Amino acid sequence: MLDNATNRPELPAEIARRRTFAIISHPDAGKTTLTEKFLLYGGAIQMAGQVRAKGEARRTRSDFMQMEKDRGISVSASAMSFDFKTFRFNLVDTPGHSDFSEDTYRTLTAVDAAVMVIDGAKGVESQTQKLFEVCRLRDLPILTFCNKMDRESRDTFDIIDEIQENLAIDVTPASWPIGMGRDFLGCYDMLNDRLELMDRADRNKVAESIEIKGLDDELLDQHIPADQLAKLREEVEMARELLPAFDRQALLEGTLTPIWFGSAINSFGVKELMDGIGSFGPEPQIQSAEPRKIAPEETKVAGFVFKVQANMDPKHRDRVAFVRLASGHFLRGMKLTHVRTKKPMAISNPVLFLASDRELAEEAWAGDIIGIPNHGQLRIGDTLTEGEALRVSGIPSFAPELLQSVRATDPMKAKHLEKALMQFAEEGAAKVFKPAIGSGFIVGVVGALQFEVLASRIELEYGIPVRFEGSQFTSARWVNGAKQAVDKLVDSNRQHIGYDHDGDIVFLTRLQWDIDRIVRDYPDVTLTATKEMM
Ligand code: G4P
Repeated sequence: MLDNATNRPELPAEIARRRTFAIISHPDAGKTTLTEKFLLYGGAIQMAGQVRAKGEARRTRSDFMQMEKDRGISVSASAMSFDFKTFRFNLVDTPGHSDFSEDTYRTLTAVDAAVMVIDGAKGVESQTQKLFEVCRLRDLPILTFCNKMDRESRDTFDIIDEIQENLAIDVTPASWPIGMGRDFLGCYDMLNDRLELMDRADRNKVAESIEIKGLDDELLDQHIPADQLAKLREEVEMARELLPAFDRQALLEGTLTPIWFGSAINSFGVKELMDGIGSFGPEPQIQSAEPRKIAPEETKVAGFVFKVQANMDPKHRDRVAFVRLASGHFLRGMKLTHVRTKKPMAISNPVLFLASDRELAEEAWAGDIIGIPNHGQLRIGDTLTEGEALRVSGIPSFAPELLQSVRATDPMKAKHLEKALMQFAEEGAAKVFKPAIGSGFIVGVVGALQFEVLASRIELEYGIPVRFEGSQFTSARWVNGAKQAVDKLVDSNRQHIGYDHDGDIVFLTRLQWDIDRIVRDYPDVTLTATKEMM
């Protein structure tokens, strides 16, 4: 049977009920608070505030690292699963700081939709815009939550206009705010013809929901002061005239975003947003891969690694590969083929991320994220299948834009440092190059803050204090070509040569002129700024 909205075969019920999404926002817009409320309504935590432990760090349970606790920056992306009504939500957390965009970009390859949180007073901010562009590249459906309506916010039409203009996407109001700041009463639910009233006395209380019959319903007079009601009627009428109506197809195609207004900290508007994600959000989608695409309803299991995190549990020197299942029904103990090495892997202790508690995953379905503890075999971009040689495509690798050299402050620890660096390189946290001449390592990252994070992790996880210093090089290019041509280049440019963690050759320099010279003098060799993750 074909599904009307998607024109695709109807999915098995277990797959169809999955919603796998990320939250994108500018720092401070309220992503952590919203995540906390999602978990609260998803039954993953009992009380708000459990996530944001008082006095201690105020980050969600999804944050693992000391550094991010200290600095209040969400560095690592992780996944959380919880049920809401008939749905299974898989929320993949993205780091909000711009220096971690590489991680974020990859995370967005593992989700089917994004929730965009904006601050009602600030509108579309720089990081929101950047992340939105990445979602657009993949035509990801976007649901918008305009937060902090309990504070003085911008005019509702202004906010909607700004999104439409800055992000070039149609916006349809799913709810309409009644007042703002101190006068904020709640919202009119435009999709379900309901009045939702915020409880200011109790931040964790779910809003009072009143069924009405259109905006002329007399019930409204009992709850909304006359001047606010007149304004609401006028604005909603205008909105219906001027703004596009809700259209699920357009949402799924990524050309229209429904917007909910609310206040995450007051638990207001969150359930309606969750209802929206459930009812209108996409089911697990088809995954692009070579030589053929993977459809979620295929009975054989396939999945891909979009993130690797080392040392999540300091007690065990483990690494966890985060795998998005692209198809099938996975059962614990299954033997899957690791396509890159063609080796079988028994997946005997996979974990599901139920908020912060890692639990053994007995089973998982297409759309789910599972963690596979391993000793380094699994890398970002790897595909696991039941035997077929499929390779998931479209996982980006970024050119390192900043290079620094790193040394252990204790020279006796150089060997240990090499091991730590290689582990981070495999995790995808940095690019690491060993120069052909001299000692030490060159580390390449996308954003400067990553150096600090690395230094802190190397010390914390490996007990090796390190120093990052300016490097003589500013650019790295991977060298590709026939062996003879590459050897010739390497022999005559040894001072520029380094090796990455796979042993592949890179050309290191500080001058564009050098790169131009190589391109001119070695026509049989190509230099690339990125290396495909495989
Ligand atoms: P982020 O993860 O996107 O960076 O944002 P986060 O949830 O940490 O929220 C940023 C700040 O905004 C927090 O205040 C939080 O309490 C506040 N906030 C979140 N949602 C709302 C809302 O609906 N209304 C209002 N008025 N504020 C909201 P903070 O002072 O930085 O932290 P805290 O001391 O309150 O924990």
